Amino acid sequence: MAKFTLPKNSKVTKGKHVPAPEGASNVRRFNVYRYNPDSGENPRMDSYDLDMDKCGPMVLDALIKIKNEVDTTLTFRRSCREGVCGSCAMNINGTNTLACTLALDDVKGDVAIHPLPHMPIIKDLVPDMSNFYAQYESIEPWLKTTSPDPAGKERLQSHEDRTKIDGLYECILCACCSTSCPSYWWNSDRYLGPAALLQAYRWIADSRDEMTGERLDDLEDPFRLYRCHTIMNCTNVCPKGLNPAKAIAEIKKLMVERQI
Ligand code: SF4
Ligand code: F3S
Ligand code: FES
Repeated sequence: MAKFTLPKNSKVTKGKHVPAPEGASNVRRFNVYRYNPDSGENPRMDSYDLDMDKCGPMVLDALIKIKNEVDTTLTFRRSCREGVCGSCAMNINGTNTLACTLALDDVKGDVAIHPLPHMPIIKDLVPDMSNFYAQYESIEPWLKTTSPDPAGKERLQSHEDRTKIDGLYECILCACCSTSCPSYWWNSDRYLGPAALLQAYRWIADSRDEMTGERLDDLEDPFRLYRCHTIMNCTNVCPKGLNPAKAIAEIKKLMVERQI
C-alpha cells in the first residue's frame, strides 16, 4: 500500500490553469483533483476552461474532452457511459455521484471534481477499491442452499417473493454510498459499509437462499453491522435511488426478531 501514501504534511495545492481556446464564448471552468503518487508531489487542483458549445451534456463528457483534447495525463475510470457499470463514481461539487448520469446543466457554477472521499488514491480520480471489493466478497454474494438441486429445474420463487429483492438487486457497486458514510470513513477496515450491507440483505431477503441464519451470524458484530448510526448520507447520495439505510435497518430488525 506504500505507493498510495500521500506525501507527509500534504496539502492540495493550486495547479495549472488551461484557458479555453480563443474565440470560445460559452466557457465553463472545471477544477479537477490531480495526484500522482509516483511524482512525490502534493495533490493539486488543475483548472480547465472548456468551450461548452463543443462539449457533450454530461460531466463525464467534459472529463473525456479534457483527456482527449487538453491534457492526456488526466486519469479516471469509466466504461458504460449510462449509469450501469458504476466505474465513473466520483465527487462532483461535494456530492458522490456518477459522472456519466449527471448533466452539466444540473451543476451550478464551476465544476469541482474530486475522487470518492476517504479512499486511497491510485492516480487522479481513480480510488483503490480493493478493500471495498474484499468486503463485498466477504458477504458471499451468491445463492447458498442446503437442499438438493431440483432435478433439471431452476429454483423457483413466487412473484411476491421476487418483489422482495426489488430495490436491492439494482445496486451497481459504485461505492458512492459507502464513501459518503462517516462511519465508513473512520472504520472501513472493520465496518462493512452500506453497499456491502445492502448486498448482504439482498441475499438474506431472497426466498431461495437457505443460509439466512449463517448470514446473520456473520454480520452480528459490533463493527461489521452495528457501526451504522443511521446517518443516512448513503441513501441521500445513491445515484440509483436505492435505500441502503433501510436495508441495514431490516438486517438489524431480523437480528432482534431471531432473539425473541
Ligand atoms: Fe452505488 Fe447505490 Fe449500490 Fe451504494 S447502494 S453501491 S450508491 S448503487
Ligand atoms: Fe452510514 Fe448510511 Fe448508516 S450513511 S451510518 S450507512 S445510514
Ligand atoms: Fe458506467 Fe458511469 S461509466 S456508470
